[in-house]
Amino acid sequence: GDVGNGETVFNANCAACHAGGQNVIMPDKTLEKEALEKYLAGGRNEAAVRTQVTNGKNAMPAFGGRLDDDQIADVAAYVIATSEEGWD
Ligand code: HEM
Repeated sequence: GDVGNGETVFNANCAACHAGGQNVIMPDKTLEKEALEKYLAGGRNEAAVRTQVTNGKNAMPAFGGRLDDDQIADVAAYVIATSEEGWD
């Protein structure tokens, strides 16, 4: 995935709930490294992010009908890379 384009996709589609890698609806379920390791189904990896973005989970909407496969791959690459670097 293209991390730079992933940042654009993130800002347009995810930041409303996940600004700064946080989670305004379920505050423990952030996009920080430790939270992804603890909570993300399938572990902290791009495939697991792609699955959750495509299908949604509970209060998180599904993006499978709104973003194409390349956009989902790019945003997953951005989330994993930024979780490694730190969101701030
Ligand atoms: C959880 C990514 C959009 C609400 C998560 C998680 C990821 C993620 C990776 C797992 C985090 C964890 O369990 O610690 C994204 C991406 C988005 C996006 C890449 C854009 C394509 C949104 C939006 C909302 C939202 C727009 C709010 C309307 C949530 C909620 C959870 C969550 C509530 C917790 C779900 C649960 O386990 O019950 N998100 N998200 N997300 N996200 Fe998103």
